[in-house]
Amino acid sequence: MRILLLNGPNLGRLGRRNVAVYGTTTLAQVVEACRTRAAEGGWELTHLQSNHEGAVIDRLEERDYDAVVINPGAWSHYSYALRDALEACDVAVAEVHISAVEEREAFRQTDVVADVSQFRVSGHGVPGYLEAIDWILETADPRQTP
Ligand code: DQA
Repeated sequence: MRILLLNGPNLGRLGRRNVAVYGTTTLAQVVEACRTRAAEGGWELTHLQSNHEGAVIDRLEERDYDAVVINPGAWSHYSYALRDALEACDVAVAEVHISAVEEREAFRQTDVVADVSQFRVSGHGVPGYLEAIDWILETADPRQTP
């Protein structure tokens, strides 16, 4: 079984970007921790970070995965194209936000992806990614979940 881990815009600079909000863990460290946790459950993990919305949607169209963990970054707040792509991928989707988006600026209160995510975590820092992986591992047949 394969998990597709996706990270949206500006998350490539994790560990250096706004460390007061997002912390000092780098994206490479996040991916490694997620891959290790997935492997413990017998799952493979592939990862893409992109600042280009179309690249992420193209990746979702490849349909070579059994579950998705995604931090859509700012796209969460306005991208209906990404929302529709996640809805169409027909597998379980877990949405991660490192920060507590509900407690930040008004524009972050809107989440257009939330209704197509079966699991959502925000404000738990980088460990939120591992919570999402654990949810996937605990979901016996993710294709039945949506
Ligand atoms: C984020 C929150 C978003 O509002 C922001 O645009 C990000 C990161 C988070 O992980 O807390 O890029 O998704």
